[in-house]
Amino acid sequence: MAEDTIDRRDIDSLARWLKTYPRLSKGPLTVAFERAWSRWLGRKRSLFCNSGSSANFLMTYALLLSGRLRNRKVVVPAVGWVTSISPAIQLGMEPIPCEADPDTFGLDLDQLESLLKKHRPGAVMLVQVLGVPHKMRELMALKRKYGFFLLEDACAAVGASYRGTRVGAFGDMASFSFYFGHQMSTIEGGMVSTSDKGLHDLLLMLRSHGWSKDLDRPAHRALVGRYRIDDFHSPFVFYVPGLNMRSTDLNAYLGLGQLKKLAWIVSSRRRNHARYLERLAGRFCVQRPEPGSTVCSISFGLLADDEEQRRRIVKALVENGIETRIFSAGNLGLHPFWYERYGKASFPMADRIHRTGFFLPNNPSLKRKDVDFICDVALGAL
Ligand SMILES: Cc1ncc(COP(=O)(O)O)c(C=O)c1O
Repeated sequence: MAEDTIDRRDIDSLARWLKTYPRLSKGPLTVAFERAWSRWLGRKRSLFCNSGSSANFLMTYALLLSGRLRNRKVVVPAVGWVTSISPAIQLGMEPIPCEADPDTFGLDLDQLESLLKKHRPGAVMLVQVLGVPHKMRELMALKRKYGFFLLEDACAAVGASYRGTRVGAFGDMASFSFYFGHQMSTIEGGMVSTSDKGLHDLLLMLRSHGWSKDLDRPAHRALVGRYRIDDFHSPFVFYVPGLNMRSTDLNAYLGLGQLKKLAWIVSSRRRNHARYLERLAGRFCVQRPEPGSTVCSISFGLLADDEEQRRRIVKALVENGIETRIFSAGNLGLHPFWYERYGKASFPMADRIHRTGFFLPNNPSLKRKDVDFICDVALGAL
């Protein structure tokens, strides 16, 4: 299913760097990686942390502490990842589930608009499902009309773009994951990006215990002045109830190396995805990218006609040594973490993805003949 994008050359390079006995904990390379990421993405600021899940938690928490939310209601997608939603639960917010769009499998925009009218939520969590960009023109129009904060989970969508803008540059904040098997890897790792300095300052404090040491000098001095803190105390004064979700310079070193080969990774994944579409879109229900969007998927997701057909295809894939799995997490509203609190959240499209969805491998090491072989096996099992 996945191949490590940290290859022998990366490991050799890391070993050479380690032999210079550098600082290993969060330090200058973390800052360099954050800057390089912001430039690549087209946002002003980024924060490197220890996973995509932590990135989601940090951005949800920062938004809550900013005092800018009109209420604690947040629309969350039925199709996404558990840690897209769990921060809202952990932080005592009120998550409102939303159906999946039949084309991109992101938020269903008709249902979203009725939820916006009914609940006037302060925030919406969008998952850019598997690197297929959502209908951003329509979604951004809803944002302007209803005035919510948009959190964009681009954890599985690094390298995708919509009408020339990279996915992850639309939300007030966006998260990315660098877990093994995602578009690029820092072993574990995540990033939050934003162009909002106030939110970024909160993220910096929340990532490291709640202290102000990581802020720029004017922001740090402003806090020290407001609370009349003396210099001896100031490094260890905690302004928000923080966490430790830092990563390290070792991981940042890997991240900087991955950024250099991201263009190649992205083009290989795009090429494979396009070939899957050519071979399978006529026969299966698949995510249909919007015109003007560029897909960069971590797996090719598709839906069988029914559960029995999915069982047959999965059996054939496994017998031919091809890894497969359910489509992301299916419908999150059908998982115990959700229904034990709120009851089952059932929606026609999300349920269909849950019952009949599955993944085919997409990684940069797959060649056209590999993709064709996988397609032959899937089609042969119909
Ligand atoms: C949409 C989405 N959000 C968040 C995450 C969590 O990322 P991580 O594994 O880095 O915690 C994932 C992981 O696959 C994901 O697919």
